Amino acid sequence: MEAKELLLHEVKQNDVTIINDKNNDTTNDLNSANDDNHLINLEKGDPTMFCSYWKKLDNECSVTIKASELISYTINHKEADFFGQMPEFVEAVKRVHRVVGNAVTEGRYVIGGTGSSQLFLVALRALASSVRKTTNGSNSSNKRIPVVCAEPYYSFYKEAMEQEKSELYEWQGDANTFKPESNNPYIEVVTSPNNPDGRSRKPVVKGEGGVVMYDLAYYWPQYTPITSPADYDVMLFTLSKTTGHAGSRMGWAIVKDQEIAKKMKKQIWLTIIGSCQEGQFRATKILQFVADRYEHASYYKPPNNMYVPKLFQIEGVFDYGHRILAQRWEKLRAIVQRIGVLSLPDFSPGFCNFFQKPTSSVPAFAWVECKTVEDAEQITKKLKIKTRIGSRFGSSVSERFIRVSMMGDDHDFNLFLERLSSLATMELS
Ligand SMILES: Cc1ncc(COP(=O)(O)O)c(C=O)c1O
Repeated sequence: MEAKELLLHEVKQNDVTIINDKNNDTTNDLNSANDDNHLINLEKGDPTMFCSYWKKLDNECSVTIKASELISYTINHKEADFFGQMPEFVEAVKRVHRVVGNAVTEGRYVIGGTGSSQLFLVALRALASSVRKTTNGSNSSNKRIPVVCAEPYYSFYKEAMEQEKSELYEWQGDANTFKPESNNPYIEVVTSPNNPDGRSRKPVVKGEGGVVMYDLAYYWPQYTPITSPADYDVMLFTLSKTTGHAGSRMGWAIVKDQEIAKKMKKQIWLTIIGSCQEGQFRATKILQFVADRYEHASYYKPPNNMYVPKLFQIEGVFDYGHRILAQRWEKLRAIVQRIGVLSLPDFSPGFCNFFQKPTSSVPAFAWVECKTVEDAEQITKKLKIKTRIGSRFGSSVSERFIRVSMMGDDHDFNLFLERLSSLATMELS
């Protein structure tokens, strides 16, 4: 390569632009030009509704990582068993939970991972190997530990486990029909609020040898009233559903037992040599920002002419999330009621300790039942709306159900409502 070409090449390499941002204005303009043909993708729980919130705070909440920074594999030399964990990240996680009051973290181990998706499998492995040991006294049994979750369950659990084909545990489906043999070990996954139907949940299997893992991805005040701090042995959370930053791929597990925590850290170290430091760095900044906003907001009710930092001029992210979701649910319910052929779950309001008032559950997904046809996708395909079909959430879940993401951007959500309204005049059979 000639020197000039090389220089140009380098300049291009350095000029990193984000070309695939779903909320980028250009993308939306292009979408609106082709609205009638645009396939609305509400199949994934992509939390892009948070983009317009964060856009207002770009100058207040951003991270810069210099080329010379975060070079080493190791960060935390004090914690000999997990070199890849930033102490600031652990502190930020604990602080945000303290501020929100949705989980007990004192005296618990916080383990960061590549989204809670990675931690789900890491925690299963740790739990499965420990229950095998406890029940058999040794690790010699070849029996795989059954893993169950009540239907309808988050489709990822089954699909990830079947893909992984672990020698330690195996997916056994619906917890409601699972009968553990005598006091044999099993793992029950409890997702609360649940994906796909938004219900609060408790374990359903009654067995002696079971352990429970809680996926609390949606136990945040924007989705559901926070009634008490969750205090379970293994709890999973994720930045993607807390603040909307799914692309950072940061999740965390809060673990009571030291041995389980050790196993999880070892697994992460041996498989990916520690969690991504850039991800932890960004998550730390965002979580601290959120905690600051809520912890110090009350100091900033100053007289008119006093300077108020931008952080306190706009609503907090949980208020924003709850407000947007509540508006969307209200609009969706009104349309569903008008067209008659669909139904939605109802939720009773509860007192939210975080907002200090009663709030309604406004889940991240709508679990929609179609009352007139056997296959709800028949309808959504006609409307060019991509959703996730009920059978993905359990073998006995009817295909009359579909899961629709409520967390997408405004453009797609409004188009979705518009197309749904047209059902009132469409013939369905
Ligand atoms: C219940 C539940 N748990 C975990 C996850 C995964 O989150 P992450 O983005 O951290 O992988 C999701 C994502 O949709 C989810 O719905």
